[in-house]
Amino acid sequence: MAEQLLAVNHLSKNYGEKQALKDINFTVDKGSVTVLLGPSGSGKSTLIRTLNGLEDFQAGQIEFDGQVIDSKFKAWLPIRQKIGMVFQSYELFPNLTVLDNILLGPLKVQKRNRDEVVKQATDLLETVDLADYKDTYPRQLSGGQKQRIAIVRALTLNPEFMLFDEVTASLDPEMVRGVLEVILGLAKQDMTMIVVTHEMNFAKQIADKVLFLENGSIVEESSGSQFFDNPQTDRAKEFLESMDF
Ligand SMILES: Nc1ncnc2c1ncn2[C@@H]1O[C@H](COP(=O)(O)OP(=O)(O)O)[C@@H](O)[C@H]1O
Ligand SMILES: [Mg+2]
Repeated sequence: MAEQLLAVNHLSKNYGEKQALKDINFTVDKGSVTVLLGPSGSGKSTLIRTLNGLEDFQAGQIEFDGQVIDSKFKAWLPIRQKIGMVFQSYELFPNLTVLDNILLGPLKVQKRNRDEVVKQATDLLETVDLADYKDTYPRQLSGGQKQRIAIVRALTLNPEFMLFDEVTASLDPEMVRGVLEVILGLAKQDMTMIVVTHEMNFAKQIADKVLFLENGSIVEESSGSQFFDNPQTDRAKEFLESMDF
């Protein structure tokens, strides 16, 4: 049996009166890809952010890599070191070169050896076809290039777990494929990931498991192939029909 990296048990989260996550339960095996699908406002970003300690929660618990995290938990720092996250907006520092953007966390936060990190960053830039860009500034890059840099920046911190929240949503269509290829490459290397995406062909290709959310609840949980070929709930069927792919 595959080893489990994450277990979410009865997780609930409110923003004031609004219940954004309602009794969420699922597990993530090491090396697997979980795709979160659901309409806008269903709680996908909230769930991803809660898993990384960027949002508090009121009930339930998260078990990550053997560490039990309840609603009172405070010691997120060492956990966040193991979790990489890439959002829709890339937020590179405009005054730093590509390489310096990537080096910042490993050197300042992880206190690692510069030569070692430069080597790793250079190798990773090569894998995303951006080796020639290490001395350029973010403003000289396209959105797709910036997003690939943001992924390299996260990977250079050696995460055990990657969270992707609609990383291609703000890109021009011709930039999308290159970014998705990088994520597919990570899946082939057995990186454990949760991916939120509206790119349905990509989701179908990459998902070991699909969690379909609506109004803060998991409405359907299936294997990737089952969800796309034979969705069980009417809501999932309607959602897939509306996605037109
Ligand atoms: N910071 C916030 N404060 C209050 N409500 C929020 C906040 N962030 C999200 N919400 C609400 O929580 C629900 C889930 O939002 P979100 O997780 O962003 O959904 P999704 O990512 O699936 O589009 C929505 O009703 C949204 O309006
Ligand atoms: Mg969202």
